[in-house]
Amino acid sequence: MNSNTLSAYNLTDITMPKHVAIIMDGNGRWAKKRLWNRVRGHKQGAKTVDEITTFCRAVGVEYLTLYAFSTENWNRPKKEVDALMNLLDEFLRDKRETLLKNSIRLNVIGSIERLPDFVRNRAEDLMKETANDYKMTLTLALSYGSREEIVSAVKTIAQKVESGEMSVHDIDDKVMNSSLYTSGMPDPDLVIRTSGEQRISNFLLWQIAYAEFYFTPVLWPDFGEAEMAKALHSFGNRTRRFGKTDEQLNEEK
Ligand code: IPE
Ligand code: IPE
Ligand code: MG
Repeated sequence: MNSNTLSAYNLTDITMPKHVAIIMDGNGRWAKKRLWNRVRGHKQGAKTVDEITTFCRAVGVEYLTLYAFSTENWNRPKKEVDALMNLLDEFLRDKRETLLKNSIRLNVIGSIERLPDFVRNRAEDLMKETANDYKMTLTLALSYGSREEIVSAVKTIAQKVESGEMSVHDIDDKVMNSSLYTSGMPDPDLVIRTSGEQRISNFLLWQIAYAEFYFTPVLWPDFGEAEMAKALHSFGNRTRRFGKTDEQLNEEK
């Protein structure tokens, strides 16, 4: 943790979320406002990814999950999809050193077999390279859809039951958790969505059961350290009851 960054944003005494998940939205509108091509918005958005990753690492967030490309985003015009894949490849190439230097592990969730080979190969290589001695896990949700993830988890479990490896009575939350792409990760504590949209868009539906939400009108390319600090302050000021009463929580303190 970097105490200078923490004190610069008054975050020293804040309860930090262990896992922050972000729906990075608004790149297209950011570009459109400037009468530019949408792709310029995505390019600027990649810079924000850089800034927010470094910031989260500095303030001690252990898991940062970024929704970068949804299963539904495959339906965008081919030109935009191709440009996004190229940007992704560039990002993975350019960030290799930063990830290694800052002990950040790369992880990818989603149906990555749908990604073009060049992106998938680069991502898989970097996942292997960064798999040891890490302090933070950066997960990119690529070609990710939560319903698809849940369906595939259910299939895996059903196959185990069918083959006799498991009984129906063994199926519980834990079995579900370990059958999802996010197996081994804690659930997100805080979900942020930029650009003013207030919806989930098929992101981590199972995992966000008790997440705190933070919506901001700021477009993703304009979302920087100061905006992230605001979201962390908002999180720090909330009471998470998990179904209990305030009195019970006070007794537990
Ligand atoms: C988010 O920005 C990035 C992706 C979904 C890939 P958008 O491209 O959705 O930007 P808007 O919502 O059109 O402004
Ligand atoms: C959600 O953003 C997906 C990502 C941020 C990658 P979209 O811009 O695709 O979502 P909708 O279509 O507005 O719900
Ligand atoms: Mg959008």
